Amino acid sequence: MRATVNDTTIPAPIDSAKEKHRRFINAYWLRPENAFWMVLRSNALSRVPVVAPSVDLSCGDGVFSFLHAGGRFAPDFDVFSAVANLDLANTEHADIFDHVDEDYDPPIARRPRVGMDCGTDVKPTLLAKAARLGFYDKLVHHDNNERLPFEDGAFKTVYCNATYWVLEVDDFLREAKRICAPGGTIVLQVKLDAIRQFTLEKHRGLLGDRFLDLVGRGRFDTWPSLCDQSMWEDRFDSAGLDIRRADAFVTGTHAHVWDVGLRPIAPMLIKTMNSILPHLRTEIKRDWVDLFCELLEPFCNPELDLFTDPSDPVEIQYELTPRN
Ligand SMILES: C[S@@+](CC[C@H](N)C(=O)[O-])C[C@H]1O[C@@H](n2cnc3c(N)ncnc32)[C@H](O)[C@@H]1O
Repeated sequence: MRATVNDTTIPAPIDSAKEKHRRFINAYWLRPENAFWMVLRSNALSRVPVVAPSVDLSCGDGVFSFLHAGGRFAPDFDVFSAVANLDLANTEHADIFDHVDEDYDPPIARRPRVGMDCGTDVKPTLLAKAARLGFYDKLVHHDNNERLPFEDGAFKTVYCNATYWVLEVDDFLREAKRICAPGGTIVLQVKLDAIRQFTLEKHRGLLGDRFLDLVGRGRFDTWPSLCDQSMWEDRFDSAGLDIRRADAFVTGTHAHVWDVGLRPIAPMLIKTMNSILPHLRTEIKRDWVDLFCELLEPFCNPELDLFTDPSDPVEIQYELTPRN
């Protein structure tokens, strides 16, 4: 049987919703379309208690999970302070975040009350960044296409928001089941291929290949296991995972806005903001963050949908548990 999408009350968060949005927008300000997506992810994740021992598979630089857990950075800090290869972002689809400076040291204004036991990622630079947050007890370099380097039943909570990045996804799901304790929870936030409906691809004839390449920047190439809801649920079933709950939390409207966003001009924006005098950056950032806190508020609603007919969901959070 397919999972139904539930609708129950979200438990009280640490901060007010506005304060939480500000923390995320402050960290991801130059890509506002990513900021609201992160807020949607965090709000969905708030439904699930993160019971220790916990692991964050593909934790990246750890900033998302740190903020989700209630961490706060000083206002001047954001993920764009430590980037490289800005000139190659549009031409070679370089990952500008795959870089860490010796002196990378995010200024922490408030530590989360609870951290996570373990984080993993395939990129050592991102793990080095995550280490500086002091949020994970342990960080492990790992490619999710390989066997996970943990004992059977090692974690009560397994979280991953990058499952659709994994080529050998069926093996990965079996591995996620293996490392989850009996009765534990595996939380996967997975994109659905309905996202393709909300790109400008259907206008390729008018817009041209170069336009779509600049707007897309190779996104879909990094998501080899993107599929529809029914296929995700078949995969979970085959891996021996039962669905406890499924929450759709991103609509076609969110995806459409995100599709264009500021992606093509982000490298120039980042370069500009990182070249100007610090006090000017601070001033501009403050006004920018204030503006986007207001502009993005409606987009932090997981049900916002401006299409006449309700659109298919684009991302679903699954709470799974190992079948006995
Ligand atoms: C969209 S980012 C999400 C990072 C982090 N979870 C967050 O929310 O900010 C996707 C992450 O998956 C990682 N990744 C991609 N392929 C991977 C693989 N085969 N094994 C492990 N991690 C991988 C990338 O390095 C990146 O950190």
